[in-house]
Amino acid sequence: MNNSRVIVALDFPDETTARQHISMLDPGLCRVKVGMELFTGGGPSLVEALIADGFDVFLDLKFHDIPTTVAKACTVAARLGVWMLNVHAGGGREMLLTACEAVAKEPHQPLLIGVTVLTSLATADLAEIGVPAAAADQVTRLAGLCKSAGLDGVVCSAQESAGLQAALGREFILVTPGIRPAGSASHDQKRTMTPAEAMLAGSHYLVIGRPIFQAEDPLLMLQQLNREINTALAQRQA
Ligand code: C5P
Repeated sequence: MNNSRVIVALDFPDETTARQHISMLDPGLCRVKVGMELFTGGGPSLVEALIADGFDVFLDLKFHDIPTTVAKACTVAARLGVWMLNVHAGGGREMLLTACEAVAKEPHQPLLIGVTVLTSLATADLAEIGVPAAAADQVTRLAGLCKSAGLDGVVCSAQESAGLQAALGREFILVTPGIRPAGSASHDQKRTMTPAEAMLAGSHYLVIGRPIFQAEDPLLMLQQLNREINTALAQRQA
């Protein structure tokens, strides 16, 4: 069984490019994330093919619409067989509840994760769209809403993990991008944490893209990441 905490971001524009990179991975050592770029280029058939190849797929489409539409999209995603999917917490309680109900009716139930405040938005950006809260407070508020509506967890930055774990408990799943192994390039990520730091802060799964595919040996990088994460998990439980 796959128990890796690494979710590899497949940030590619089409199936051919994605497949060249996926062939470097081992479904026993990681899970994968299909976001809106690859889904738009590769479609549901690619998602089904990845699942048939043994990968757990996080469908990162951040559904945000009226409750019925989001619920129906969640049902279709569950039937595709994805392992995890996400919706925007800003869609409100009814949308979140309806999404949970839709997933709960399916024989195969993916983990349902909320997106709180996009990390590209700062407090000033929120003010401009009529949200008077500080970004950090809005994250806490929306994560709490996700939990009370029955979602399994949220996507958050590692900087938010410790606070969210304290507020929402250890079972609430924290999925964290912006991870950089020590010594690797930060690219366009501004506030990074190492895999060990993020796990010690309370994250459950780490979304990592470029550090894996730009490594000389992606498989070796995956093995090193898994080792670092397992050591941190053992420390966390001690
Ligand atoms: O290549 P890298 O490790 O930076 O990829 C991180 C992945 O996580 C990308 O798919 C990116 O879109 C996603 N992500 C992020 N920061 C967020 C939310 C998602 O980097 N706040």
